Amino acid sequence: MAQYDIVIIGAGPGGYNAAIRAGQLGLKTAIVEMGPTLGGTCLNVGCMPSKALLHASELFEAANKDFAGLGIEVSPKLNLAQMMAQKAESVAALTKGVEYLMKKNKADWVKGRGRITGPGQVEVTAADGTVTKLDTRNIIIATGSEPSGLPGVSVDQQRIVDSTGALSLPVVPKSLIVIGAGIIGLELGSVWRRLGAEVTVVEYLDRITPGMDAELAKTFQRGLTKQGMIFKLGAKVTGAKSGKSGVEVTVEPVAGGPAETLKADYVLLAIGRRPYTEGLGLESVGIVPDKRGFIETDHFRTSAPGIWALGDAIHGPMLAHKAEEDAVACVELIAGKAGHVDYNLVPSVVYTAPEAAWVGKTEEQLKADGIAYKSGKFPFSANSRAKVNHETDGFVKVLADPVTDEILGVHILGPQAGELIGEYCVAMAFKAASEDIARVCHPHPTRSEAGRQAAMGVEGWTMQA
Ligand code: NAI
Repeated sequence: MAQYDIVIIGAGPGGYNAAIRAGQLGLKTAIVEMGPTLGGTCLNVGCMPSKALLHASELFEAANKDFAGLGIEVSPKLNLAQMMAQKAESVAALTKGVEYLMKKNKADWVKGRGRITGPGQVEVTAADGTVTKLDTRNIIIATGSEPSGLPGVSVDQQRIVDSTGALSLPVVPKSLIVIGAGIIGLELGSVWRRLGAEVTVVEYLDRITPGMDAELAKTFQRGLTKQGMIFKLGAKVTGAKSGKSGVEVTVEPVAGGPAETLKADYVLLAIGRRPYTEGLGLESVGIVPDKRGFIETDHFRTSAPGIWALGDAIHGPMLAHKAEEDAVACVELIAGKAGHVDYNLVPSVVYTAPEAAWVGKTEEQLKADGIAYKSGKFPFSANSRAKVNHETDGFVKVLADPVTDEILGVHILGPQAGELIGEYCVAMAFKAASEDIARVCHPHPTRSEAGRQAAMGVEGWTMQA
């Protein structure tokens, strides 16, 4: 008799949501986690602490630059220790919350490093060396991902840091070089720029944020540049040398030409993440990850019967909310239900100021796939709420099918874009036409009206610009 119906390895958003759904469906579940707290990268050293610093640093910058114009005279002084302490407090509350949810849903937290030793067999080695053997009908691999390395740049978490180190720098650097203009680089680069660092972002491509609609990315970059972020595009980092007082970074133009050396107090390496699938005992069940470490799956089923994988360990966007969707669908499939995820409807958000958010296809993807589309666009400079808040940067762009009018993609740049995009995720899940949004009453005065006006623009009847 198996001890468990499901043993989940990894307690990030993929793993802990799988455990909750399994508990709801009456499946006897254990969750194996080697970290001292639950919640994985997202809660401990990812989404949540970065948002705590983004929120606090945004207010600090607003107090410095914008409050006076609103008639509020203040002289803000940074207390970095307190900013870090409130971040740690929030993270602790969140990870405790997950512990509560595991208890509530009757999932046993088995502390230690999990390794698959055969079909239905997981061995857990605790920090003190104690080994627990678990016998289970199903195993879910939810081990997530880790920052990718770069030859010639060795992360010491002192002067050369990855996203984890960049969440806890002991001082505000005078200068920070960010390698990679992806989401992590721009979010954490924004935090330290707002707190006073000169931030230079070195990016291999000739644009920032690959995957983002190119028009959005261009306007986004212009805004970040206006805030003081320096971009070096088409530039490849080939090495970094760390000394007591700072780091020297070697950068080569991708198009060819002489290398140059940049100097900074600190360097943040943020060139992507790779699946964390090493040391899991996959060979014991014949699973061979691909060259990049991803586990191949078909509806979360690996090549080994009874072994499932989800989240960052498998293909698809490496996002917490994608892992959550995977988790629910995977457990429902294990329970004999019809679990399903529509990956076209997984939104992306960059939590900078302004935020950038999108769902569905970009113009570039539609063109590459030969799909015809029409578009409507509305700038926040014409939105009344944005005007009175003095936050007029950005726009909403709605892309729709020229025949059926079905919404194909929505791209937003502006404050609260991450909140606004939810409306379009729901609309697209219901196969809404742009006219459905255009003819729905939206509250006034709100930023959401800009989205409605953009949808009206698809049919050429934008009313307020
Ligand atoms: P990324 O893949 O988004 O961007 C990495 C960038 O580094 C790319 O633009 C790439 O061209 C560049 N690059 C690669 N090698 C380089 C080199 N040698 N020199 C200069 N540039 C180089 O990766 P990032 O930002 O590290 O994020 C990792 C993952 O975490 C992503 O999947 C991201 O979506 C996810 N994430 C999502 C967040 C959110 O949803 N708000 C927040 C943080 C991470």
